Amino acid sequence: MKRLLLSLAIVLTSAMAFAGEGMWIPMLLQYNEKEMQEMGMRITADDIYSINHSSLKDAIVLFGGGCTGEIVSDYGLLLTNHHCGYDYIQQHSSVEHDYLTDGFWAMDRSQELPCPGLTVIFLREMRDVTPQVLNEVTSEMTEAKRQATISENIKKIIAEVEKETKYKASVKPFFLGNEYYLLLNEEYTDVRLVGCPPSNIGKFGGDTDNWVWPRHTGDFSVFRVYAGKDGHPADYSADNVPYKPAKHLEISLKGADEGDFAFVFGYPARTSEYLPSIAVNQEANVIDPIAVDLRGKILDIYNTYQEKDKKVRIQYASKHAGLGNGWKKWMGVTEGINHFHGVEKKQAYEKDFMEWCNASRQRYPYIGLLNAFEKKYKELEPYRVAYTYLSNAGLNIELIDFAGSFGRLSRVTKETPQEDIDDMVASLKNATKAFFKDYHQPIDEEVAKSMLTEYLKQPADFRPGFLNEIKDVDSYVNELFSKSMFVNEEKVNEFLDGFKASKVKKLQKDPAMKAYQSLIEFYRNDVNPKMAPINKAIDSLQRIYMKGQMVMEPERRFSPDANFTLRVTYGKVEGFKPQDGKTFRHFTTLEGIMEKENPDIYDYVVEPKLKELYNNKDYGRYADKDGTMHVAFTASVHTTGGNSGSPILNADGRLLGLNFDRCWEGTMSDLVYDPDICRNISVDIRYVLFIIDKFAGAKNLIAEMDIVE
Ligand code: ARG
Ligand code: ASP
Repeated sequence: MKRLLLSLAIVLTSAMAFAGEGMWIPMLLQYNEKEMQEMGMRITADDIYSINHSSLKDAIVLFGGGCTGEIVSDYGLLLTNHHCGYDYIQQHSSVEHDYLTDGFWAMDRSQELPCPGLTVIFLREMRDVTPQVLNEVTSEMTEAKRQATISENIKKIIAEVEKETKYKASVKPFFLGNEYYLLLNEEYTDVRLVGCPPSNIGKFGGDTDNWVWPRHTGDFSVFRVYAGKDGHPADYSADNVPYKPAKHLEISLKGADEGDFAFVFGYPARTSEYLPSIAVNQEANVIDPIAVDLRGKILDIYNTYQEKDKKVRIQYASKHAGLGNGWKKWMGVTEGINHFHGVEKKQAYEKDFMEWCNASRQRYPYIGLLNAFEKKYKELEPYRVAYTYLSNAGLNIELIDFAGSFGRLSRVTKETPQEDIDDMVASLKNATKAFFKDYHQPIDEEVAKSMLTEYLKQPADFRPGFLNEIKDVDSYVNELFSKSMFVNEEKVNEFLDGFKASKVKKLQKDPAMKAYQSLIEFYRNDVNPKMAPINKAIDSLQRIYMKGQMVMEPERRFSPDANFTLRVTYGKVEGFKPQDGKTFRHFTTLEGIMEKENPDIYDYVVEPKLKELYNNKDYGRYADKDGTMHVAFTASVHTTGGNSGSPILNADGRLLGLNFDRCWEGTMSDLVYDPDICRNISVDIRYVLFIIDKFAGAKNLIAEMDIVE
C-alpha cells in the first residue's frame, strides 16, 4: 500500500506539474483553462470553443475524413498538409501535368481545381448526453442487453435533435463507453485545390525522413471551401461561392521560442492510453513486427520499379507513402515501447491497481479484470495474427483486391433490377479507369509471389483455403496473371459493356475473383466469428477498467482516448533528449535543407528557385529574428494520426504552423505517452508563407490572409 501511495503521488504530481499528455474535449476546456494560462496562454477557453459566439473552433475542419484543416481567410481558404492533399494532387497529375513534381498554383479562383469526393466537416456544437444514453442501463445487465439499450437510446436522441437542427447528429462514446457526447456537424462537398509546392518541398526528405527529427519538410497544401449562394453546403457547381466562415485563423509572424506555450486544435483519430500491459505487449511485439516485415518486402519491390521508371514512380507514389507510413511507424512503436519500458510501466501500474482492488470489498467489480484481460488477449492473439496476414499479405495483391470490387456484380441474378445493374456497371467503370491509371503489372506479380510465399508459412487453419491448393507459388502466380481478366483494362471494359446475369459465371470463375472470395470467406467463417466476441468482451473489460482507474485516482484529470472528434492538446515548444548524450534543438532552418541536398537522391533534391532564394537570403518578413528561415519545429504536444494538418497555435491563439508528424523516439505515444520523449513536428507557418509568396509568387493568396507582424 505504501508503494501504491508513492507511485500514485508520482502520477499525480507529474500530471499536475505538466500536462503534455491528454487530448481534451473542447467544450470542457474550462477545466484546463487555469493550467493553460499558467503555462502562458493569454486567451480563454471560451475563445477556443463557444456555441454562443464565434470561436477558434469555427475555423477547424475534419479534412477528407482523415486529416485536419483550418480556414485562414474570409473566403474559405484552407491550409492542410501536403500529404493530406496528396491523393487529390495526384488525381490531377499526369506525366504532362505533373503537379506532384512541379507543384500547382491557381493564380485566380477560376483556375482552382474541383476535387470530387473531397469533403470538409465543421463541428457546430457538442453536448454531453451521457445520462440520456445510459438511461435504464444497469450494471446487472448482460453486455448484449446493455448495448441494445444504448443503441435504442442513441437512436432516440438523434431523432429528437434532428427535429430541431439542420446539422447531422451523431453520438460517440468517450472514456471507452463511460461517457457519451452528441456531435452536430456540417459537411461541405465543394472543396477545390488552390495550390501545393513541388514534392521536393512538400515531401522533402520523403519516406527517408518520415517520422524522424530533424525534419525539413514543407508539408502543406492549400484548398478552398465553396458553398451555395446562400452560404450553405452545396455540391460542386461553377456558380458556388467561397465559403464565409464565422471565424478564420490569424497568422503570427513572430515564431515560437523554446518554452513558449502552444496548443494543437484538430481531429486525432485513435489513441489507446488505457490498455493493459498484455495488450501493449501484443501490439508492439507480436502484431506490429509482422506487419512491418510483410510491408517491408512489398516496399522493396515498389522501390526497385519506382527508381527505374518515372511513370511508375508517380503511379505508386501514393501507395508507397501509405504502406510506408505504417511500416515505419510500427517499427518506431516497437522500439519505443521496448526502449522506454512501456510494458513494465504498465505492469507497475497494474500492480498498484490490484493492491487498491484488494484493499476494499467494495472494489469487487474490478478485482478480476487483469486476469480476464490476460485470458482474452491470449485467445485473441492467433486471430489478430491471421487478420494481419489477411490484410497485409492478402489484400496488398492489387489484382485480388481489384477483383474484389466486383463482388456485388458476381451476385447478380435474373431477378436483379436492371437499374441496379446499370448503377453497379457505371461505378465499376470508374473504378476500372482509376485502377489502371496507377497499375503496373510486373510489380503486382512480384508482390504476389513474395506475399503468397510468406502467407504459406502460416498454419493451414489460419490461412484462406485457396492457399492450400498452391503447390508452387511461381506457377500459381503465373497462371493467375495469365488467366485473370482483371489485368487487362480492355477486357474488363468489354466484360462490363452490356453486362447481364448470364455473364456472372465468367466472373465467378476468374482466378483472381476466386482468390478474393476465398480470402473473404476465410475472414467471414474463420476469423471474424471468433474475433468479434472476444473483442466485445475486451471492450466491456476495458470500460470497467477505465472506470476503475478513475475511481482509484479521483484527483487525476483523465483525458479520453482520441476517437476522431475535435480535441485540444497543449504543451510547450521544446526540443528533447532522445538518448544519453544527444540533444535536439526545437527548430530547423533552410541551412539544413542545403546540408541535406543531394541531387542523386530523390528525397533530397532541392529546387533551383529555392536555392536562389537561399543564396540571396531573400526571406523578406518571413525570416526569424535570428535572420534565418525557420522550416519546422517540435513541441511537447500530444498528437496522433488525424492531427496532420492541424493548426499549432500560440498563446494568443494565432497560427504558428501546421502539425504533420511525430519524432521517431515518440511514436509509441498512441499507447504510452512520455512527456520527456514524445514530440510533435510542425512546419513553421513563416516557411509556408515564404514558399507561397517568394517561391510561388502567389501574392493573391497572401493578400487574403490575416497576417499579424
Ligand atoms: N508520418 C506522418 C503521418 O503519419 C506523415 C506521413 C506522410 N509522409 C510521408 N513521407 N509518407 O501521417
Ligand atoms: N502524420 C500523422 C497524420 O497524418 C500525424 C501523426 O501521426 O503524428 O495525421
